[in-house]
Amino acid sequence: MSRTPVVEILRSETSPGAVVVMGWVRTKRDSKTFSFIEINDGSCLANLQVVADASIGGYDEGVVPARTGASVVVEGTIVASQGQGQRWELQAAKVELLGAVDDDYPLQKKGHSMEFMRSIAHLRPRSNLFGAVFRMRSRMAFVIHRFFQERGFVYVHTPIITASDCEGAGEMFRVVTMEGNVVKTGDAEFFGKPTYLTVSGQLEGETFACALSNIYTFGPTFRAENSHTSRHASEFWMIEPEMAFCDLKADMDLAEAMIKYLVSDALESCAEDLDFLNRFIDKGLIERLEFVRDRVFERITYTEAVELLKASGETFEYPVEYGLNLQSEHERYLTEKHFRCPTTVYNYPREIKPFYMRKNDDGKTVAAMDLLVPGIGEIVGGSQREERLDVLRANLNAHGLDESHYEWYVDLRRYGTVPHAGFGLGFERLLMFVTGVANIRDVIPFPRTPGVAEF
Ligand code: 4AD
Ligand code: MG
Repeated sequence: MSRTPVVEILRSETSPGAVVVMGWVRTKRDSKTFSFIEINDGSCLANLQVVADASIGGYDEGVVPARTGASVVVEGTIVASQGQGQRWELQAAKVELLGAVDDDYPLQKKGHSMEFMRSIAHLRPRSNLFGAVFRMRSRMAFVIHRFFQERGFVYVHTPIITASDCEGAGEMFRVVTMEGNVVKTGDAEFFGKPTYLTVSGQLEGETFACALSNIYTFGPTFRAENSHTSRHASEFWMIEPEMAFCDLKADMDLAEAMIKYLVSDALESCAEDLDFLNRFIDKGLIERLEFVRDRVFERITYTEAVELLKASGETFEYPVEYGLNLQSEHERYLTEKHFRCPTTVYNYPREIKPFYMRKNDDGKTVAAMDLLVPGIGEIVGGSQREERLDVLRANLNAHGLDESHYEWYVDLRRYGTVPHAGFGLGFERLLMFVTGVANIRDVIPFPRTPGVAEF
């Protein structure tokens, strides 16, 4: 069965002539002598309009029962469309019904709520919105690889099952085996010790950067934090570059360049999907993306950010004080009201950051950075890593971590240590940013959040 994807037909300069098209019926209008069928095969947002004369072969078996949601094969010829809004239409010679559709097909009408669409996650990619989002998800994944490969970064697959808690936050899922209903523990542990789903590939990534210089990871990560927000998922994908012979400044430069590169590609390669999202999801989307592509981002230190927030005159729900974490409302004030621009905040107090971040000369702060964007807040978190053996050991101690669990990590500082830095970009946060979709659950094919593991 050889078919022509709808996208090839609709983008074609000259008529592709005779074609076979396969897809799902979006709508159908019947008159006495012919039917208009709108077919979508997911290759692009737009439907292909099919004109099926009542006299063609298989009209009664193929066209009459082909209601919204049914799958069909149409053979015919591409001709210039008489109607408005499309260049080409398909003059059917034969329509065959592949799969009929039951009466209770849930995607009959437009304008379903996002909550309802989550409850039919197995069907929602058939809608315009989710088709657009998941085509863009695919494109952005590809372009992320291209960004790094063009710059000579080596792609490293870090393990999903790990024994270490990179972020030291203890928000991990345990990996266990069972005997009957009983979880095996102690001496019976499968790996001989407790293991978890990784929260970050960074520590393993660092070992490869300390051999291959510039590397990146791109894989799933898991966090058992009980956050019920629109920006947190229990399973999400992270991109983590790590660069040897590199400081915080170059790290921030790379994060900004990457965001600009991805946004720029989205504007070029996903124009049709973006236009749809701009019309129906977020009216300011394209303008914002163009701004982000063209504008130099802001950078301020954590200390400056705290002063700025204190002087802002805004009433915040959470207190602003040196030594406290910036909350989402603070991050959003900086990017949406104060700078009106993506902003990197750097040099955070040591106490609120993980053990691996490099201590600055002031003794108070570490070389950490968060890249914040309007509408979302933190999208990238990164740092220069502590490459000095004695300081790293002291940090592990200060964070109450058992050095024996991190021996291999500490070894990197004993055998040819180098300054190095990296960051983590939350893939879904990036997708929220480039699609304008407000909830992280709607940029993940089958989202996992506390209490939810459907499909
Ligand atoms: O800031 P985080 O926790 O940093 C790390 O994990 C570092 N080890 C990264 C590194 O330096 N290599 O997470 C990085 C990013 C965040 O900025 C955010 O975009 C995303 O991962 N993220 C989440 N995305 C969705 N759901 C969650 N629960 C997330 N937690 C973090
Ligand atoms: Mg962070």
